[in-house]
Amino acid sequence: MVNNVAVGKVFIHLKIIDSTNAYARQLLSKTKPAEGTVIFADEQTSGKGQLNKHWESEAGKNLTFSVILYPDFLNTTRIHALSQAVSLSLLDFFHSFQISTTIKWPNDIYEQDKKLAGILIENALVKENLSYSIIGIGINVNQTVFNPELLNPVSMKLIQQKEFELKPLLESYFPFLEKRYFELKAGEDVKMKQEYRSNLYGLMEKRTFETAQKKFEGMITGVDANGRLMIETDEDVLKFSTNEVVYL
Ligand code: BTN
Repeated sequence: MVNNVAVGKVFIHLKIIDSTNAYARQLLSKTKPAEGTVIFADEQTSGKGQLNKHWESEAGKNLTFSVILYPDFLNTTRIHALSQAVSLSLLDFFHSFQISTTIKWPNDIYEQDKKLAGILIENALVKENLSYSIIGIGINVNQTVFNPELLNPVSMKLIQQKEFELKPLLESYFPFLEKRYFELKAGEDVKMKQEYRSNLYGLMEKRTFETAQKKFEGMITGVDANGRLMIETDEDVLKFSTNEVVYL
């Protein structure tokens, strides 16, 4: 087995940038940064979230960073496994602070009914395999006041009533990502998928879901081999790709 990646050995700390993911992409267009390179910003002026949304984060209060990986051992049929591995690494990280979290499919990290962290993975492909992945992560840490338009944010400070020092906190995350990335490399997808499933927000609970066409009642039973969300209704088992279904 190839040695594991040293996440954060190369560490780029920026005061202000549009988006750490965009910075990573620029870097990748010019050079080949070491695998595990981390780009961390105190402030993002144009942080990106999923579904083309903006990622809001108060300057100097939170962790907003990107990690460059080269998962060339993953072909396109296993892309979702990377997102599952990253989600699990964040669950492990929060667990180390006695914060219990779940994964709102596909990869929002929730503490009870509130969002504590978000992940935005941007991939490049060469033929059937991944050539690079930019793992963008936003963790709400010391922020206590949020834009009221945001649905349900929470931060580590709001949960634990204490401030965290950002850089040591970020460094303490790296081993968790290394471990899960190693498991992925070792082909332990099945074990990870089981862990991912058992930590899904709303698993086996009756909920209302919404697609572009309709609202319906159902229960999340897990994810399929392609990472699609499986929802059991009275009539059927439905499967959804990212962005095809929303739920609260
Ligand atoms: C989401 O939940 O919508 C994903 C949020 C991802 C935000 C992070 S912050 C660091 C990195 N750079 C970005 O522009 N976005 C990601």
